[in-house]
Amino acid sequence: MTIYLNGQYLPIEEASVPVLDRGFIFGDGVYEVIPVYSRRVFRLAEHLRRLQHSLDGIKLANPHNDAEWTRIIGELVARNDGDDQYLYLHITRGVAKRDHAFPNPPVTPTIFVMSSPLPAPPAALLHNGIACITAADNRWLRCDIKSIALLPNVLLRQMAVDAGCAETILIRDNEFMTEGAASNIFVVKDGKLLAPPKDNLMLPGITYDVVLELAAANGIPHEVRRVMKEELFTADELLLTSSTKEVLAITQLDGKPVGSGKPGAMFARLHALYQDFKRDVMRKNQD
Ligand code: PDD
Repeated sequence: MTIYLNGQYLPIEEASVPVLDRGFIFGDGVYEVIPVYSRRVFRLAEHLRRLQHSLDGIKLANPHNDAEWTRIIGELVARNDGDDQYLYLHITRGVAKRDHAFPNPPVTPTIFVMSSPLPAPPAALLHNGIACITAADNRWLRCDIKSIALLPNVLLRQMAVDAGCAETILIRDNEFMTEGAASNIFVVKDGKLLAPPKDNLMLPGITYDVVLELAAANGIPHEVRRVMKEELFTADELLLTSSTKEVLAITQLDGKPVGSGKPGAMFARLHALYQDFKRDVMRKNQD
């Protein structure tokens, strides 16, 4: 596997970062995950816009303009195997003497990009759906920043794994649902798709946008608003989205079946629309 690190393309085994990198010491950096289908980078402009939002959120200058990112990413995709890949792009504030405050004058940021094969979700997951648990959303108030400081998300996801589940759905203030530890969550009730608003309490997912666009374009009733905890537990269906998981049905929540306990009609519809979109748009770069 070839990665990109600070201007160089290297085999991953040869890549290393100094121990005083602020990403290593403080988790002081941001990242992006971008899917690539048939070697075409999906919604690069949107991902770069979200990256800029994250960089602005941590007051770090963007080391590259869009044309430079496009060139770096294109080169990396070309150098790696697999027509479907997912890019991981990571920028930290760089290497400096350990001090919480930003280095002054600023130092050169560390830029790391890798691309891994992106397998389609296994058939068993599509057929059976996944099991999730719920937990209190104990993260900070800037979940819209795609921060590399992911310890809360790591601990929350591990709670799911320890319970034999796939994801943890987060509930803020014991009142409303925000998202998953590494995914966005939709609720379906009486044929309507409900999505939480893109505010400071969740990551504005690119897949979330695609699902809402598909709903709008295909006459599927949908509403963006706060989704209350009770609505999560009385949902007919629950859906999970992310760049690497696409759209999955959640068929069990906290050990109880969601609706019928099987992937439902809304999942079937949106999954089919997503697959068509992947074939006709994502693989042809016509989004
Ligand atoms: N995570 N919310 C959180 C907290 C996430 O970490 C992610 C994605 C999403 C979904 O966003 P998108 O549809 O743009 O992938 C929502 C990526 C996949 C990761 O950290 O690996």
